[in-house]
Amino acid sequence: MPDLTKNPIGIFDSGYGGLTVLKAIAEELPGYDYLYLGDNARAPYGNRSFETVYEYTLECVQQLFSMGCELVILACNTASAKALRNIQQKDLPLIAPHKRVLGVIRPTTEIVGKYSKTGHVGVLGTTGTITSNSYPIEIAKLFPQLTVHQEACPMWVPLVENYEMATAGADYFVEKNLNSLLTKDKNIDTIILGCTHYPLLIQNIKKFLPEGITLLSQGDIVAHSLTDYLKRHPEMEQKCSKGGKFQFFTTDSTENFDAAASLFFGAEVKSKHLAL
Ligand code: DGL
Repeated sequence: MPDLTKNPIGIFDSGYGGLTVLKAIAEELPGYDYLYLGDNARAPYGNRSFETVYEYTLECVQQLFSMGCELVILACNTASAKALRNIQQKDLPLIAPHKRVLGVIRPTTEIVGKYSKTGHVGVLGTTGTITSNSYPIEIAKLFPQLTVHQEACPMWVPLVENYEMATAGADYFVEKNLNSLLTKDKNIDTIILGCTHYPLLIQNIKKFLPEGITLLSQGDIVAHSLTDYLKRHPEMEQKCSKGGKFQFFTTDSTENFDAAASLFFGAEVKSKHLAL
């Protein structure tokens, strides 16, 4: 079991995608303790209902709280789109008023206006994220002049979760969805990878991405935003323990998780199983 005297920063994703965020955060904010939870047994979340994503996410957040986390990052767009608001507004005041849960959509929308010159932006995400309309809604609040088109990519997360990235099948679905997005609007010059799994398909995406289009992936964006958050909230910064320790938990097989996660994380990962 984790060292419960410590207060690691919790990073949650349905599966492997959040590792792309943890990697960037740990590079920018070394020295903190981190606890990663991948709900691989129930991934992908992307095609699940609002109620189910909310129920699973809340369960995982409560689990991370019980393991000592004072601050949890939902490193998952689907969970950020479907569960974050309820958790922040409804659950936290009742279950843990001094703890915090942050998502990945807001930090991404805060910077998108800086990148697009044409004013036309594309968003790729899971079916859940796209149908929630979270990106167009949030972008319209901050950059009402931007035109936003979206494309759901329901096969991309399963391809990553099943370690099928270097296959013709992965290329097929990446090309199909990318073309479909760009056909909707020929002036798109900036594409948000609105799912933390998608950087793991970056080689496939680059094969089919026309020149001159900027891809925004969320690892660095979320890392900068967390750095800023900790500066603005010294009371939370002081609570986060600083032993430089990483702990990984998965709700599925640790053997499978360790093999894939070590490659995605770029360092050896030894996870423990967590039954929810
Ligand atoms: N990484 C999650 C996201 O950012 C994937 C969701 C899923 O499990 O489908 O949306």
